[in-house]
Amino acid sequence: MRRKWVGGNWKMHGSRAMATALVGAIVEASVEGVDVVLCPPAPYLREVCAECAGSSISVGGQDLSEHESGAYTGEISAAMLRDVGCTHALAGHSERRQFHGETDAQVAAKVAQALAHGLTPVLCVGETLAEREAGRTADVVSRQLGAVVAHCGIAAFARIVVAYEPVWAIGTGRTASPAQAQEVHAFLRSQLARDDARIAGSIRIVYGGSVKPGNSAELFAEADIDGGLIGGAALQATDFLSICAAAG
Ligand code: 13P
Repeated sequence: MRRKWVGGNWKMHGSRAMATALVGAIVEASVEGVDVVLCPPAPYLREVCAECAGSSISVGGQDLSEHESGAYTGEISAAMLRDVGCTHALAGHSERRQFHGETDAQVAAKVAQALAHGLTPVLCVGETLAEREAGRTADVVSRQLGAVVAHCGIAAFARIVVAYEPVWAIGTGRTASPAQAQEVHAFLRSQLARDDARIAGSIRIVYGGSVKPGNSAELFAEADIDGGLIGGAALQATDFLSICAAAG
């Protein structure tokens, strides 16, 4: 049995006061039986890490640089995330791919940086609506996954979480049905199984895209959905905790 995993990706929302209150409520709830990772905006990472210290809650960056260090203004390195207490980093979120032009090669380099610095990369993949309607979902997600397998090697996937986030379901209120999500999750697992059946069997593949308290249990009940990466609903402690409870 794979232990379920729930991440909260706050994106560019909130304030320092909001972050502290939200994390306080989540830590206080002492969620059990599920791995919980919070990804606040970068300026709040240090404080959120301090608040989560000694609890079961982990903290991750929403992005990281593909470079080790150097003259890359505005970027945050894997070593810096580690240095402030993070254990995870999202890589290749669709908003980074869409609005910042991140390529598969850059995403693979980010995953490699995270791994090199002992962070668990959360590799995000997912198709746009146009790609889904053109019947290209499998092609797109296998290309995105394959780029990381080619760059980092299949063995690295023992330390990676994959998040399937269909772009058309993110922040739209339009969730993939459990069956639609399950189909892609099973496909991703089968792609990994071609290289290593053991790793494919143990890797967590989580779903993201309009997950709410009202739909989380049915999504998490699917055989290959090992939890969720939550955006909007992660900004309310009660909603996020109810989603964690559905996974626990
Ligand atoms: P929403 O839950 O707001 O749709 O966002 C999902 C997401 O992008 C998480 O990374």
